[in-house]
Amino acid sequence: MRRPFIAGNWKMNLDRNSSVALATNIMEKLKAFGAAQDVEVAVCPASCYLDAVATAVDRSILGVGAQNMYHEPKGAFTGELSAAMLLDVGCQYVILGHSERRHILGETDAAVNQKLKAALAAGLVPIVCVGETLPQREAGKTLEVIRTQFSGSLAGLTGEQMATVVIAYEPVWAIGTGKTASPEQAEEVHLDLRKIMADCYNNQIAESVRIQYGGSVKPSNAADLLGQPNIDGALVGGASLEADSFMGIVDKAVG
Ligand code: 13P
Repeated sequence: MRRPFIAGNWKMNLDRNSSVALATNIMEKLKAFGAAQDVEVAVCPASCYLDAVATAVDRSILGVGAQNMYHEPKGAFTGELSAAMLLDVGCQYVILGHSERRHILGETDAAVNQKLKAALAAGLVPIVCVGETLPQREAGKTLEVIRTQFSGSLAGLTGEQMATVVIAYEPVWAIGTGKTASPEQAEEVHLDLRKIMADCYNNQIAESVRIQYGGSVKPSNAADLLGQPNIDGALVGGASLEADSFMGIVDKAVG
């Protein structure tokens, strides 16, 4: 059984006080909710507040993740953070290859792959994002794009490593737009990702990897998306910036 996993990607939002307050609020709600066993929940604040958030929460109830990292362990890489640094401030997870990093900051599959290997070697749980743009979907190239991103970003992992990775399918056209992939559109891609993993590894690994959906997930559409057999959670942007809407999504993952 794949344990549902809901993560909030706060992107470049919130200040120090509101980051700590939101994380604490979510953690208290999770405690009251008693859902900690049934669903894994994490928040990914801006990197400068990771330390403060990780210190403020009980990370066995609410996990903490970074939004990016660099693949080198240390050295002259101005502005970058290593996997060891993220672990040192209390991160358990790291988002890799988010579409905003791919499309705005020019991150390639090869770069994501280097980061992924460094994250795995350090013991972080990577959340690797894949997703097609609207022109790619309209050209009927969705599955081809996802397969290319998978084989580039997730190349060269052992089966054991693959089993620890979380994949997030985030169609670029659904991110921050209010347009959500229909449950059927999302399920088609999630199922295809499982087929890719079955081909590259085996059925057992394909069935064990958790695949989140991301792109305008809200409490009102979460139940339909999370009800799909191959959707194992959500990577939430806008709706994760407020405790009630985020918990409204967590709630659907348990039900
Ligand atoms: P929204 O939920 O705001 O569409 O963002 C999704 C996302 O990019 C999460 O990583």
